[in-house]
Amino acid sequence: MANLPSSILVTGGAGFIGSALVRMLNETTDARVVTLDKLTYAGHRENLAGLAHPERHTFVHGDVCDRALCAAVLAEHRVEAVLHLAAESHVDRSIVGADAFVETNIVGTHRLVEAARAHFSALSAEGRARFRFVHVSTDEVYGSLAPNELPFTEKSPVRPNSPYAASKAAADHLVRAAHRTHGFPAILTNCSNNYGPRQMPEKLIPVVIERALARMSIPIYGDGLQVRDWIHVDDHCRALLRVLEAGRAGEVYNIGGDCERTNLALVRALCAALDHERPRADGAGYAAQIEHVADRPGHDRRYAISSAKLAHELGWRATTPFEQGLADTVRWYLANGAWLAAVSSAEHRAFMARQYGPHARSLT
Ligand code: NAD
Ligand code: DAU
Repeated sequence: MANLPSSILVTGGAGFIGSALVRMLNETTDARVVTLDKLTYAGHRENLAGLAHPERHTFVHGDVCDRALCAAVLAEHRVEAVLHLAAESHVDRSIVGADAFVETNIVGTHRLVEAARAHFSALSAEGRARFRFVHVSTDEVYGSLAPNELPFTEKSPVRPNSPYAASKAAADHLVRAAHRTHGFPAILTNCSNNYGPRQMPEKLIPVVIERALARMSIPIYGDGLQVRDWIHVDDHCRALLRVLEAGRAGEVYNIGGDCERTNLALVRALCAALDHERPRADGAGYAAQIEHVADRPGHDRRYAISSAKLAHELGWRATTPFEQGLADTVRWYLANGAWLAAVSSAEHRAFMARQYGPHARSLT
C-alpha cells in the first residue's frame, strides 16, 4: 500500500472492526497508528494485545466527544488521516435506550470532525492535499429491502429504521455537509454485516456460539427469515485501506460481501460448524437448541448492498469465502474462551440478562 499516509488516527480501535484494522495497519504497512478509544463495554485493550510492531502504535484512552482531546491527539501525532469507527454499534441496545447513540455517533462525530477540520486547515498545502477523513458507516442507513428489490447502491435513499441506524445516518449527513460546505476531504463508507474474531458476544454470530456451547437456547428473532449480507472483517478492513489510499474526497463507497443469508440459514450453518468442531457429548446437533423468540421491534427484513462502485473505481473485492471464514471464526471462538470471559463485563452481562432473560436458561 504505497500511498498510505504515515500517521493515522483510528477511533474505536479497541472494538471489533477497529482492532482488526489497527492490526492490519500494524502488520502490513509502515504507518504509525494512534488509537483513540473510550473503552466502553465494547472496547477492550486485549483486542490490541500482541501487535507485531508495538513501537508504531499509541493508545489514547478518551472520548471522541471531547473536542479538545481530539485536537490535541491530531496535533501531537501530526495525523495525516483519520479512520473514524468509534460508535455505539448494537441495534438492540439502541432500542433499549438511544442516548449514548446520539451522544457518541452524532455529537461525537460532529466534535471529531470539527477538531479534524481545524487541524486540516492548519496543514501545509501538501498536507491538505494528502489528508483524508474516512467515516465508517453502515448499510443500515438505507433501511430495509423487499425480497425482489435490487441491492442498495450509493444512490439509494437513506431510510434508517432503528435508533442506531438513524444516529449513523445523522453522522453521515454531518460528514457529507463538512465536505460540501467546507471542502473537508471526507469519504464515507457503508458496509454490511461483519463477522470474524473479537466481535462482542451481543451480536448474532458470537451469541450463537457462546450460548450453543453453554447449552443454552439459541434465540432467533421472529421467523428467522430476515436476510443479512455477511462480510469477513478483514475484507472490510482491506476495503477501508483501499478507500484511504485511493478514494475520492466527498464520495460514498458501499462495501458488501455479496453473501446474503437468512438468519436461520446462518445459524444452522454455525450449528453445523460447531457439530464438526466440538460435537455435543449426547450426540445431538446444536440446532436442537434453536428457539424462536419475540421479534426485534422495527426489525429490518433484508439488507443487500452492491460494492460495484468500489470494485470498478478502486479494484477491491471481498476474497474470503464465507464457509471458510465462518469455520475459522468458530475455531477462533473455541480457542479463545479466555477472551470471551474477559470481555463479559458486569455491564455486558446485565444487558444480556435483560435482553434474553426468559430464554437464558441452560438446557442441560
Ligand atoms: P464495536 O461496538 O465492536 O466497537 C466500537 C468501539 O468504539 C469500542 O472500542 C468502543 O469502546 C469505542 N467507542 C464507543 N464510544 C466511543 C466514544 N465516545 N469515544 C471513543 N471511542 C468510543 O463496533 P464495531 O462493530 O467494531 O463497529 C465499528 C464501526 O463500524 C461503527 O462505526 C459501526 O457503526 C461500523 N459498522 C459496523 C458493522 C458491523 O457489522 N459490526 C458494519 C458496518 C459498519
Ligand atoms: O448491517 C451492518 C450492521 O450489522 C452494523 O451496522 C451493526 O453495527 C451490526 O451490529 C450489525 O447489525 P445487525 O442488527 O444486522 O446485527 P446483529 O448481529 O445484532 O443481528 C443480525 C441479525 O440476527 C438481525 O436480523 C437480528 C438477528 N438476531 C440477532 C441477535 C443478537 C437474532 O435473531 N437473534 C439474536 O440474538
